Order: sequence, then structure tokens, then C-alpha cells
Amino acid sequence: MTENASTSTAQHTVTVIGGGQIGEALVSGLAASGETAMTVTNRRAERRAELADHYGVSTTDDNAAAVKDADVVFLCVKPYAIVDVAKEIADALPQDAVVVSLAAGVRLETLEAAVANPVVRVMPNTPMLLGRGMSIVTPGSRVSDEQLALVRELMDAVGETAIVEEKNMDAATALSGSSPAYFFLVADALIDAGVALGVPRDTASKLVNYALAGSGEMLINSGSEASTLRANVTSPGGTTAAAVRELEESGLRGAFYRAAEACANRAAELG
Ligand SMILES: NC(=O)c1ccc[n+]([C@@H]2O[C@H](COP(=O)([O-])OP(=O)(O)OC[C@H]3O[C@@H](n4cnc5c(N)ncnc54)[C@H](OP(=O)(O)O)[C@@H]3O)[C@@H](O)[C@H]2O)c1
Repeated sequence: MTENASTSTAQHTVTVIGGGQIGEALVSGLAASGETAMTVTNRRAERRAELADHYGVSTTDDNAAAVKDADVVFLCVKPYAIVDVAKEIADALPQDAVVVSLAAGVRLETLEAAVANPVVRVMPNTPMLLGRGMSIVTPGSRVSDEQLALVRELMDAVGETAIVEEKNMDAATALSGSSPAYFFLVADALIDAGVALGVPRDTASKLVNYALAGSGEMLINSGSEASTLRANVTSPGGTTAAAVRELEESGLRGAFYRAAEACANRAAELG
């Protein structure tokens, strides 16, 4: 069953299998970049209708039919479902189509055993919804330079990319794929702390959200390391030094070491 019109652009034909959180973030970012039109598959009809209405994409529940003219196929289902979906589309894929798995943990070796096509692993994060994603990219053994460049071009349209070796993919997942959740947690905690000090919640949210966003911009654009930027706002004997001491004594640094390790271990288990 295919709903809406067809979807190829002059440059690429893109299929996204699984229109959930990350599938939607990808579709949204790519649609906003104006680079390409897409076909998105999902099993629930209401979800397909939502995505078609919102992004003007073509939708279907037939994964094999959706990939038959694709240049690039993004697999955006949960890790446990990736191999079944890869096998489902294997015979329908055009010979040169690149299969891009966005699943945490699932190794290239496993994916390359499921399809004969070139495979790339990408670990994105949800800020790609706004074109500010960070995508870690690991090419498989069958991927040509041109195919890798095409995948990077698409991911660059929704943020930044970095190539890492597969042995570092699970650790890199802990640093960027999952880390927006850590920063949202930090923001939520600081907002609650402000409310506890008597600041109205909407004001506390505005103060914290802009401080976090501005700090992010400084990390990217100032040319200074995080440690230098932190030292720069920590005057001797001042307010920030008092707060930083509390955070350190509360074990913040150790908590991030343990969180990153737990995330990387979980990614390996999921694969
Ligand atoms: N969320 C993140 O921040 C994040 C970050 C980096 C990487 N990832 C990776 O992205 C992948 C997707 O995660 P998610 O959070 O987006 O999960 P999700 O929200 O559950 O999305 C998965 C989507 O796939 C659809 N689906 C499931 N089986 C399908 C099938 N056989 N054919 C077509 N569609 C199917 C589901 O809807 P129906 O059940 O209705 O079909 C659902 O909409 C995972 O592998 C995860 O490791 C996620």
C-alpha cells in the first residue's frame, strides 16, 4: 500500500524504514534542508498519515516495495528488529543502494551478513530534528568512497558528522547518541533547583535553557576547550567556585564516567 506521491529527487532517492523518533528527526532535518524527498515506512497507519501530513513524504507499510528504487536506505527501527528488516528488504534492494543502519550496538558484520549491499553504521542524535545533529559514521567493507560521501552529505544536511572506527562506536554512542538526554536531565535538575530557591518555573526554565544553549554555542564556536571555558567563569573565591565545589564533591565527574560506561556496555549488549 503506497500513500501520497512518489519521491525521488534529481540527486538521490532516499527511503527511511521506521518513522519513529529518530526516523522522524532524520526526515524532518532532511526535509528542512530541502535536499531530497523521501519514502518513509511504518506499520501503524496513523503514524504514516502524521508523517505524510507533516513532511509531505510518501509513506507505505511495504518495506520491500519502498526500497526498490532507493539510492540510500536508512534503517531506523529498534536494534532487535534491524536484522529482520534488513533480510526483508535484501532481495528488493538495487545493487548499488547503500544500507545505513542507525541502530545502537548492531555490528557491521551482522548487517553485512543480512544484506549483500554496502552497509554504513551511523549513530545520530535527536538534535538533527533542528539540523544540529551529531552523527558518528562507520563505513562497512563494501562501501565505495562515493557512497560514503553520499551518506555523509545526507547526514551533514542535518548537522555534523565524524568518522570513527567501529571499535569506538559504542563509546561514541555514549558521548553523542545518548548524551542529549544527559543535558536535558541536567537542565531539568537545575530548573527544579531554581524553583526550590523561589524562582517561578517559567522564568527558571528560560534562564537555564538559554544558559545551556549559549554554553553549547561557546563550546562549538569559541575555539576554547570546555575546561578553559569553565575556568574562565570561575573567579577565585567566587559564587561559581562554590557551586563547582559542590558538584565535584557530589560526584558529578564520577557519575559521568559511570554513565558513559553503562551506555557503551548497553549498546554492546543490544547488538
Ligand atoms: N531515540 C534516539 O535518541 C536514538 C539516538 C540514536 C540512535 N537511535 C536508534 O534509532 C533506532 C530507532 O529508535 P527510535 O527511538 O526512533 O525508536 P522508535 O521511536 O520506536 O521508532 C521505531 C519506528 O519503527 C517502526 N517500525 C517498527 N518495526 C517496523 C517494521 N518492521 N517496518 C517498518 N517500521 C517499523 C515503529 O512503528 P510501528 O511499530 O508502528 O511500525 C516506530 O515508529 C534504534 O535502533 C536506536 O538504537 C535512537
